[in-house]
Amino acid sequence: NMAQLWGGRFTGKNDPIMEAFNASLKFDRRMWQADITGSQAYAKALARVGILTHEERDQLVEGLDKVGQEWASDTFEVKPSDEDIHTANERRLGEIIGTVAGKLHTGRSRNDQVATDMRIWLREQATALLTFLKDLIGIAVARAEREIDVIMPGYTHLQRAQPIRWSHWLLSYAWNWHADAERLEQLIKRINKLPLGSGALAGNPFNVDREFLANELGFEAVMPNSLYGVSDRDFVAEFLFWASLTMVHLSRWSEDLIIYSSGEFGFVSLADAYSTGSSLMPQKKNPDSLELIRGKTGRVFGGMSGFLMTLKGLPSTYNKDLQEDKEPMFDAVDTIGACLQIATGTLTTLTIKPEKMKQSLSIDMLATDVAEYLVRKGVPFRETHHIAGRAVRLAEDRGTQMDQLSLDDFKQLHSAFEADVKDIWNFEQSIDNRCATGGTSRTTVEQQITFLKQWLGTS
Ligand code: ARG
Repeated sequence: NMAQLWGGRFTGKNDPIMEAFNASLKFDRRMWQADITGSQAYAKALARVGILTHEERDQLVEGLDKVGQEWASDTFEVKPSDEDIHTANERRLGEIIGTVAGKLHTGRSRNDQVATDMRIWLREQATALLTFLKDLIGIAVARAEREIDVIMPGYTHLQRAQPIRWSHWLLSYAWNWHADAERLEQLIKRINKLPLGSGALAGNPFNVDREFLANELGFEAVMPNSLYGVSDRDFVAEFLFWASLTMVHLSRWSEDLIIYSSGEFGFVSLADAYSTGSSLMPQKKNPDSLELIRGKTGRVFGGMSGFLMTLKGLPSTYNKDLQEDKEPMFDAVDTIGACLQIATGTLTTLTIKPEKMKQSLSIDMLATDVAEYLVRKGVPFRETHHIAGRAVRLAEDRGTQMDQLSLDDFKQLHSAFEADVKDIWNFEQSIDNRCATGGTSRTTVEQQITFLKQWLGTS
C-alpha cells in the first residue's frame, strides 16, 4: 500500500472506519499555509547542507507555491489517502513536480512538522485576537471618556453599595482586558519557538541549520531539545487557559449588562442588531449576544480541561493523542474571535439611560459618607460606622431618608455633627471624594483613560 506515506511495512487494507478515525485533514487543512511555508523553509535548509541542489530546492519551493495556490483558490482535490495536511501537501507536490518531491521530508518528521505548523498558525491568530481585544478596549475607553458625567449605583453582592461613575464600571473591564492583552503578548513570545529540525524525536541527522530555519520562519529561538521540541504542547494549553480567562471577563461583563438591561434595572438598552425578539411575546427584547458570550464561555473551558486531560499521562515525545490538540485550539480561536467582535459591536451600539441610573441611587448609599464626615471631624472610624448605622435606622423607622433628618436628630446621634451635614447628600461629591489613585472620582477616572489611550496608541 504505497498510497500512505508509511506504507512500506504495512500490508492489507486499513479498516475504513480506522482510516476516518485516524485522519485529521478535515480540521487541520486550515493550517495549509503554515505547512507550505514551513516546508519551503525546510527545502532551503536542506539545500544549504547539500541534500538538495539549488535546482531541486527551487523546484520544491515553486511546486509548494502551486499547491498553496490550489488551497487558496479552493481547487485542491483531497484524496482518500490524505491523512492530514502534511501528507496531503506532500502527495500533491509529488503529482506536480515528480519524484524530487520525495526529497523534501529528508530528516524531517511530521512530529516536528506539525508542531511547527501549529505554532506558525497560532501566533498569527493570536495576533489577530490581540487586535480584536484592543478594539474592544478602545470602545470601552472612548465611551468612558464621553460619558464621564454619568453616575450609577455600584454593587457588591448585587446590593446597592456606593455611587460610582459609569465610566469607572466600563474601565474596570477595560483593565481586565488590558491584562488579558498583556498575557497574550507574553504568550505569543512563548508560542514563537521553533521545533523544526527536531526530527521524529532524536534530532536532525543532516545538521540542518536551525537558526537559519528560525530566522526564515520568523521564530524568536529554536527549541533546545528535540524530545521537548516534538512533545511540548504548553503553548496550546496556555492559549486555551488564556482564552478561558478572557472569556471569564467577557462573561462577567455580559452578565452585568444582562442585569442592567432588565426591566427592573433599565440602565442600558441593547441595539436591535445585538438582540432578538420572542416568537411568542411581542414585547420581548432579549440580550442574546451577551447570553451567547456567557454561554460559549463553557465550551472554551471544556476545550481547556479536555486538552489538559489528554496531556496528562502521555509518555514522552509524540503520541497520536497529541492530534487532539487541534480541535480545541481551532474552536477556542473561532469562539473567542467571534465573542470579542460581538462584544465590541454590542458595546458600540449600546444605549445608556443616565436618568434611570441616577434614580436608582438612594440616600442610604451615602451612609459611608456620613461616617467619613465624622472621621473628618476627628471621630474614630469604628465609632462613626456605628453612628451612621443609627442614622440609617432612624430614617428607616420614620419611613424617610437620611437627608430628611434634622440637624437636631444628627446632633443627638453625635455632637460633632454640624450644619454642613447637609452637604453630604450629594452623590457627585461622594464620587469625587474617592480621588486616591484608582478611585471613581473624575480626576482618577481621567487618569485611567489617559493611561489606556496611551497604551492603545490613540491619544
Ligand atoms: N496529524 C498528526 C497530528 O496532528 C501529525 C503528526 C503525525 N505523526 C505521527 N507520528 N503519526 O498530530
